[in-house]
Amino acid sequence: MASIWIENTKNSMQFPKLNRDIETEVCIIGAGLFGLTTAYYLTQNGVPVTVVEAEQEIGIKTSGNTTGKITSQHGLFYDHLIKDYGQKFAQKYLDANEKAIKNIKKIIEENNIECDYSAQDNYVYTTLQDDIFQIQEEVKAVKSLGFDAEFVTKTPLPFTIQGAIKFPNQAQFDARKYMLGLAKQIINKNQNIYVDTRILDIAKDGKEYVLIANDANIRAKKVVIATHYPFISVPGFYFAKMYQSTSYGLAVDTNEELFEGMYINVKEPFYSLRTAMYNGKKVLVVVGGDHKTGETIENDNSYDMLEKEVKKWYPDAKVLCKWNTEDCIGLDKIAYIGEFSSIMPNVYIGTGFKKWGITTSNIAAEIITDKILGKKHKYSEIFNSKRFKPIKNRWEMENMLKQTVTSIAFEKFEIPEGELEQIPNDNAQIIEINGTNVGIYKDTSGNVYAIKPVCTHLGCTLTWNNTDKTWDCPCHGSRFDYKGNNLYTPANKRLEIINTDDIE
Ligand code: FES
Repeated sequence: MASIWIENTKNSMQFPKLNRDIETEVCIIGAGLFGLTTAYYLTQNGVPVTVVEAEQEIGIKTSGNTTGKITSQHGLFYDHLIKDYGQKFAQKYLDANEKAIKNIKKIIEENNIECDYSAQDNYVYTTLQDDIFQIQEEVKAVKSLGFDAEFVTKTPLPFTIQGAIKFPNQAQFDARKYMLGLAKQIINKNQNIYVDTRILDIAKDGKEYVLIANDANIRAKKVVIATHYPFISVPGFYFAKMYQSTSYGLAVDTNEELFEGMYINVKEPFYSLRTAMYNGKKVLVVVGGDHKTGETIENDNSYDMLEKEVKKWYPDAKVLCKWNTEDCIGLDKIAYIGEFSSIMPNVYIGTGFKKWGITTSNIAAEIITDKILGKKHKYSEIFNSKRFKPIKNRWEMENMLKQTVTSIAFEKFEIPEGELEQIPNDNAQIIEINGTNVGIYKDTSGNVYAIKPVCTHLGCTLTWNNTDKTWDCPCHGSRFDYKGNNLYTPANKRLEIINTDDIE
């Protein structure tokens, strides 16, 4: 199950695994958009870097599964920013993101990166009359920041809308091809990228750090944590300031004529729409079904739900690829960019990019590059990584704490009671066997896979995701496949397997 972007570029660049101890000036952990862009900027400034990636290929986690929309329009956001943070803050947020759009275009042009870049307008639309007031307020807010947003009632979409806010001069691209282009530039500057190299821990040694990887150690003066989720829980405590959200994507072929522009609707259920090139043909990309990771979802299969919706617009729609993705979302919806923790000097972080990591990762890369070069970036303050203001979004805070506490408490009455025979094929359940709770998945042929349903990060109880056949953690969003393999951090260990002989 891979995104259209990963399908398009599989195995197109090979990198070695790190299997000997090395020393470097800056070690960047994570070869996604943020990590690679930081490495690109640093190498342009003559700073030696080493990039390490835990996966077998670069850019195949969150960055390879994005919609690839390069936009400063992050849903309906600016009215909220002005009301909660003030005009100056909102202005800086908009300016930083507009600058990121220009930065990305500049990188593509200067390095001739072929990544299907095209200028597009971006829209947040609604099909409901009830949402119109909210959209009009957003238009007013954005105009007050000097940006040329527009209220429209018609778009090229294949269905009628009630209204939309249009942001002109935005863009779309293939983020994975862009990342491969960045990697080429880093290699051209004689810097190294290693894959299949998972950093398990960071130890301080005098003024430097020793990064412990699976097969080697790296000594570095400075460290950038550019992983999907900060893998160090303490210090930093980012797990207490963020949650993760899962979404599902489809690339769809149709003989109908497809639209121009990029779109997302105002509220759930979300449909994020754009077009892309696949094997030389323009196809539709739709991403939606968003939910907090670990939350039980109503529909049994989010891909089927999306496909059903697409077929209302394009009855001949044929699904080409399906994929899922996961994003980290800060409680106040602003990214954390800067120093990782005051007790770990020269270690930097960028995380909590919510669903808008294309522009935010570029901003993060610029800010961290400037910090490493000893310069002050004019937008660094609004993303200050050390802030903790949950009061700005009380609902998010309460919701996260409630679910975390419930999961940690592992109350028996919360667990569906069941017997092994009652679990239908291709489904899973937690059942109690000899006083122990066991997570059991039965595949389509009735084969049983049993795990201990306890997250290896901080011990929360896992829930079953029947769309992707995964065990998901409602506390901080780690995910595991039905065999117990770890798919998404912050957990970085597999689940404990229960011997199926013990449960007959
Ligand atoms: Fe933190 Fe599961 S991800 S306890």
